[in-house]
Amino acid sequence: MHRTGKKLAVIAGAFALTIGLASHSAGDPDENSLAIEGETIVTDVKAPADSPLEHLYSGWRFRASETQSLQTDDFENPGMVAVEQAIDQFAMVDGSEGKACADCHADVSDFKGLRPNLPRWDEAKSKPETLEHIINECRTERMGAKAWKWEAQEMLNMTALIGLQSRGMPVTVETGGPMASVWEKGKELYYTRVGQLDMSCAHCHENNYGKMIRADHLSQGHINGFPVYRLKWGGLGSIHRRFKGCMQNIRATPFKRGSDEFIALELYVASRGKGLSVEVPSVRN
Ligand code: HEC
Ligand code: HEC
Repeated sequence: MHRTGKKLAVIAGAFALTIGLASHSAGDPDENSLAIEGETIVTDVKAPADSPLEHLYSGWRFRASETQSLQTDDFENPGMVAVEQAIDQFAMVDGSEGKACADCHADVSDFKGLRPNLPRWDEAKSKPETLEHIINECRTERMGAKAWKWEAQEMLNMTALIGLQSRGMPVTVETGGPMASVWEKGKELYYTRVGQLDMSCAHCHENNYGKMIRADHLSQGHINGFPVYRLKWGGLGSIHRRFKGCMQNIRATPFKRGSDEFIALELYVASRGKGLSVEVPSVRN
């Protein structure tokens, strides 16, 4: 009995999803343009020739105007609280070596240009690395400090501060050379149907962006704004947290944060947004 009930609920859920996607057509992203503190942020750009999309739109363009406006002013942006905290963390001594980030990195603005190129290949370890890996490598190997957990507040604060240094710069992530096989793996994951709803990332973010799914306006699912401040989360969240949530919504067993699968997916999804501006920390509902 219980099993049948559950199965029916799942089918009903899938059905509602199909109806939801088909019947509301809120259509295109809006026409609003984004400037933060006087700086122009590119929220739409013609897609590169090899892209499956014709035109790229930042997730910002799909949000309601109240949500959008929170991102136009750093005093209004709730994600900036985390950035403030990270500035303190940067100067704070931690670990057995008695060092702070600031002892070796004179100014956090030295990290300008880093965020648009991540994830990248780590020559020494012969594997791809994300911003979380880079930060933890400094903590464990250079400070004698404990690694921060992927979703720890300190980690989110620091990835927001470092990402912010590149705000306005176009995403340019490297997909060739040793990253080619990682990218291929990410692409495969993106198009693989998973979960009880048997859907892939592409079903929603490539084929149906612009439409409404329940109360949410579907975007192209880019990651140029991460870590993102989500009103629903009441705080910042990582790229991998968002991936996890999307997989759970289609009732798939999500990969773990920091897993090879999510790192590959991160690279592939980043590459789909090449040319959009970094807009860290972004604000979403
Ligand atoms: C003992 C010195 C030292 C400390 C302390 C240190 N780092 Fe590093 N960090 C390095 C070195 C050396 C590199 C690799 C060379 C480089 O790119 O500067 C590096 C690289 C980085 C990079 C990559 C820079 C790039 O452009 O590739 C980031 C980001 C970074 N560190 C962040 C931090 C943060 C955040 C902290 C504090 C939690 C920290 N580091 C603490 C020495 C240190
Ligand atoms: C059933 C539809 C659906 C599927 C399938 C789905 N997502 Fe999402 N995703 C959403 C919705 C709804 C949102 C919130 C609104 C938006 O930004 O599209 C979202 C948001 C996102 C965002 C945040 C975008 C931003 O600008 O903040 C990313 C990134 C993302 N999804 C990636 C993925 C990836 C990767 C997959 C495949 C593992 C996936 N999604 C599968 C529905 C879906």
